[in-house]
Amino acid sequence: MKTILTGLRVNSEPTLGNYLGAVLPMVRLANAYKADHNINIFVPDLHSIISKVDGNLKKNIFRSIKIYFAAGLEPNENVHLYRQSYVPAHSELCWILECNASMGELSRMTQYKEKSEGKASVNAGIFNYPVLMAADILLYGAEYVPVGEDQFQHLELTRNLAMRFNNKYGREIFIPPVKTEDQLKFMGVENGIRIRSLTDPERKMSKSSRAENSKIMMLDDPEVAAKKIMSATTDSVGKIQYDMFNQPGISNLLQIEALVNNIPLQDVVSTWAGETRYGDLKQKVASSVKSMLEIFQARMKEIPDETVLEYLEAGEEYANFVSKAKLLEVQNAVGLR
Ligand code: TYM
Repeated sequence: MKTILTGLRVNSEPTLGNYLGAVLPMVRLANAYKADHNINIFVPDLHSIISKVDGNLKKNIFRSIKIYFAAGLEPNENVHLYRQSYVPAHSELCWILECNASMGELSRMTQYKEKSEGKASVNAGIFNYPVLMAADILLYGAEYVPVGEDQFQHLELTRNLAMRFNNKYGREIFIPPVKTEDQLKFMGVENGIRIRSLTDPERKMSKSSRAENSKIMMLDDPEVAAKKIMSATTDSVGKIQYDMFNQPGISNLLQIEALVNNIPLQDVVSTWAGETRYGDLKQKVASSVKSMLEIFQARMKEIPDETVLEYLEAGEEYANFVSKAKLLEVQNAVGLR
């Protein structure tokens, strides 16, 4: 069976960007493919400690799993939920891959550049985390990895590391994830999803932004979230059309509307073609986001911690079984065993 895999860091509660860029696409794919695919949804808790954790890490981990249920995940026996730090093969493979990765390629990672920009001191985890991400993926031979646009560079790195390793040891030890264009096709989108900041739509919506109105948090009061949409920065072009280059604010709203309602972007764009009143579009998007948050937040409250723990423990048994076997294959190839 092929594997679809994703993970969400748990430094703070997720943003609408995390939700629309990764959680919802993963849940939609999981529900569609779970009969004959492994669906691996894991909590990259070790990734989370590369930067400040808001709140309690353990609580955030449980919350992270509940988010998928609240987004509509309907698990069956092929859906595996697990915590990275409970599966030691991730860290062990990471080390072996690091010895096959170059400082040059890691320093070209945009995420690393952004996260280290202007900082006097940067921890080594921030530099190395794409390699840990590669280990997360390669241990399970996951070909499909639904993520937002900002993570595609890391997927390309994962492919390169896998192919380099296979070449070095002369056999297909790793299954590389499919190319970016095929990831997009699988997700059913034309371009990588990048939800923009509401106040500065040139930039992505980011949980670490200090500007509260720039981001919608999934646990925001739905009324407050609607107000943030109503005050989103737009432009003075006066046309409602999808043009990320000249009208990133309006394009962002169209994109949000499409993803929240699970309608192809093109259909939303056609519906608004010829319209000029930005206020009307904002009203519509604000109302879509508000209803979505109301349902999501009500569902979040329904899932008990005990249920989450049961799923995690079962998932960790599976993840340890699969990942240990792959790690052993790698250790054999390298000569460690
Ligand atoms: P993280 O935790 O920063 O983000 C989680 C997911 O949310 C997506 N995302 C967005 N999508 C659209 N618009 C936005 N504004 C936006 N902001 C965030 C991210 O692309 C991501 O899919 N390294 C990863 C976590 C990870 C992982 C993995 C993912 C670790 N190992 C293995 C997949 C497979 C990260 O830091 O994502």
